Amino acid sequence: MLAKRREDYQTAGFSIPLVHLDFNLNSEATIVTNTMLVLREDHSKQYLRLDGQDLSLLECLVNGEVFSDYELTNDYLHLTLPDNEHEFTIVVKTLCNPKANTSLEGLYYASNTFCTQCEAEGFRRITYFLDRPDILSSYSVSITADKDAYPYLLSNGNLTSKETLADGKHKVSWQDPHKKPAYLFALVAGDFDLLEGHYVTSSGREVALQIFVEQGRQAQAEHALVSLQKSMRWDEETYGLEYDLDIYMVVAVDFFNMGAMENKGLNIFNSKFVLAQPQSATDEDYFNIESIIAHEYFHNWTGNRVTCRDWFQLSLKEGLTVFRDQQFSADMTSELSNRIKQINVMRSQQFAEDASAMAHPIRPDEVIEMNNFYTLTVYDKGAEVIRMLHTLLGKDGFRKGMDLYFARHDGHAVTCDDFIAAMQDANAYDLSYFAHWYSQSGTPQVTVQQLYDAAQKTLTVVVKQETKPTFDQKNKRPLLLPIKYECIAANGAAQFCVEDAREGLVIMTDTTQTMTFKEVPDGTCINLFTDFSAPVRVNQYNDLDAWFHILRYAKQPLTIWEASQNIYSSIILDAYHALSTQQSVDFASVMNWQTFNTWLEAQAGQPELLAEVLSLPTIEQLLQDLTHVDILLLHAAKAQFEKALAMFSYNTLQALFTNLEAVQSTYVYRTEDVHRRKLKNVILQYISIKEPNACFEQFVHSNNMTDLQGALKIAININHPRVDWLLNEFKTRWSHDLVVMDKWFAMQASQECSDILAKLTLLQEHPAFSINNPNKVRALIGSFAMFNTLGFHAEDGSGYRYVADFIMELDGVNAQVAARLVTPLTQWQKYNTVRQRSMCAQLERILVTPDLSKDVYEKVSKSLA
Ligand code: ARG
Ligand code: ZN
Repeated sequence: MLAKRREDYQTAGFSIPLVHLDFNLNSEATIVTNTMLVLREDHSKQYLRLDGQDLSLLECLVNGEVFSDYELTNDYLHLTLPDNEHEFTIVVKTLCNPKANTSLEGLYYASNTFCTQCEAEGFRRITYFLDRPDILSSYSVSITADKDAYPYLLSNGNLTSKETLADGKHKVSWQDPHKKPAYLFALVAGDFDLLEGHYVTSSGREVALQIFVEQGRQAQAEHALVSLQKSMRWDEETYGLEYDLDIYMVVAVDFFNMGAMENKGLNIFNSKFVLAQPQSATDEDYFNIESIIAHEYFHNWTGNRVTCRDWFQLSLKEGLTVFRDQQFSADMTSELSNRIKQINVMRSQQFAEDASAMAHPIRPDEVIEMNNFYTLTVYDKGAEVIRMLHTLLGKDGFRKGMDLYFARHDGHAVTCDDFIAAMQDANAYDLSYFAHWYSQSGTPQVTVQQLYDAAQKTLTVVVKQETKPTFDQKNKRPLLLPIKYECIAANGAAQFCVEDAREGLVIMTDTTQTMTFKEVPDGTCINLFTDFSAPVRVNQYNDLDAWFHILRYAKQPLTIWEASQNIYSSIILDAYHALSTQQSVDFASVMNWQTFNTWLEAQAGQPELLAEVLSLPTIEQLLQDLTHVDILLLHAAKAQFEKALAMFSYNTLQALFTNLEAVQSTYVYRTEDVHRRKLKNVILQYISIKEPNACFEQFVHSNNMTDLQGALKIAININHPRVDWLLNEFKTRWSHDLVVMDKWFAMQASQECSDILAKLTLLQEHPAFSINNPNKVRALIGSFAMFNTLGFHAEDGSGYRYVADFIMELDGVNAQVAARLVTPLTQWQKYNTVRQRSMCAQLERILVTPDLSKDVYEKVSKSLA
């Protein structure tokens, strides 16, 4: 299958300034009449090649005449246009079957609703078009459909007319005043409940806000509406960016391939990222709704007004918009736990992607299926790269760069280089070296050496960076690393004595960097890359004493948290090595529990910090430092340490827990309460290891989903004797709510029990499960592959086979979701030889499946190459 290369970019040679789309909606036979004004921009081009997929062409007119000088393939309509003419009116009339379209790309029909998803290349499943982001057009749309079944007919922009037709149908017209690429087109038709609100922009524009949800769920959209208003205000205050239409619509649908989509004026959301009420949504759900609503709203400027020239530039809008939503969430909630969440995503997941055959730079060079590149690298590492720019230029410098970026490129389709150039020019700051972050894949590995000269009182720190070859790129160069640091003196006084211009920040550009700190008292520790100031892996201290020192005396909460994670990792990895050689570990002496407990007690007033410090690193994170891993042993080592912590800190944890329980009240989603609930549930896990009844009690008495699900997850983790009763009780309470049932599927799938495969098979037959619904697939099969370590990695390879079988079935239904599900198998390089073999055997089975999609093909073939 053919890969596209970034280097091969060429302009289309034609433009389409105007489009009118007329939809005659029918679930199995929809007719789309597309009238385009096409201009020949490059007069050497004779052919116009329009993209199109799974369409039946009914009619083609050029300048009012039936046109037959065309050729039709599976992917294109080639028109041989008359020479010497510049301007054409082209009409293409096509037929498609939305109900048969289970890919959920283009126009599809599910749960009695017509819905579209056009990013990245779905518009070509709706009509023949130049389906590429650098073609910007003015759209008008008319939609005709049955009035009773589909009272709401929505598209981008402003509603311009509405009429009732004779045959029980109605017709609505929309006009979008802003030019846009085809991937931002949207259409929704269905019956909804509508929650309305409004917003007045800083310059006085009245905006109607409308949230469309399933009938009967209007009250559950309140949080999303408030989140939208907060996002609109924040973007004005932070970046001076105002909304630019009179109406902003959000539609929640149950069938959706991803989280949400920023279509101009008409966002479409996965319903799980809109609907919330205390009984059914967790704190995490509330958080996600607020941040995804913001993310899609922020795209209106970073993505829609200024868009991507080609799909290789995806991080231009995604990295930047993720960074913006991260800033927003930190402002709305709190800095610390947000930053930790982002760091954990990088360390647990993005680093693993870099280490796999799917490694790619944040601006990829080669793509077979674009949908495979909506990745942690493009999104999350992309956001880290933007964050480094923010660190280098400072808040005001970054804002100046953003202002120049919009001044130069509003209304255009541009590249990552254009973004860097705006940042550089606005600040007179040379970013040419920094820009290698866009082209180099892989995670830099940093080592730190410290030499203390007691006589001179100087501390010399030598930092070295190296990026190992990745699957996609052999040669690596040193990158620019902003190094934030914190000095921690034995008496607790912080010292900042490095010889650099900017306090607390050193900029490293070479393979090796030496820093000298002066006036350093004996026993001072230094922590580099605080705040994860560059997306690197760093090894600073091998001895626990240094980390304990940092834990106790660091000023910055993030440094304290880093210390805790390093302490746990080092103990768990030691235990793993001991287990590998059949030695037992004496956890009583692995650390000074007394000191640790005293320290914990002293932090009682800081529930946010405590909750983070008491959370152990994930298995994925622990894996990073190992090769040929026996994953079951690693799992056991972590469980043993968790148990040790539960035992040796029991009294301390119990006291903290009692205090937290005492303040429990009615559920409100607000930051202080969220931190307390988080801490309570983190501690409950430890307590329940010793007192299994604790989680049972919380399940029975909780008044909100955070505590209810928290308790149930713990019951599953500790294999509580009544866990099946609890799961059943959960189901009985929530079987009427399909969004909540996803939690139930996910919890069942993560149960580490010997008959898990039989369970999964039974659950696939459950009436609430459907292979056509991505949420169900992710909840059941995705959770199994990602969170059920014992089941997925079962010694006999049965877990791998199960997932592979499912992928092969799913590929014919929804290739995009199938390709996502294949990720855990493609990361086989980390495991021991036996597992590597059985994972690859499954990948090989998948690869020879007849009619394999290019989505799955791309990932599987790369990982076997
Ligand atoms: N642009 C959307 C967002 O980040 C996501 C679109 C994902 N598209 C895809 N084909 N996977 O907000
Ligand atoms: Zn996005």
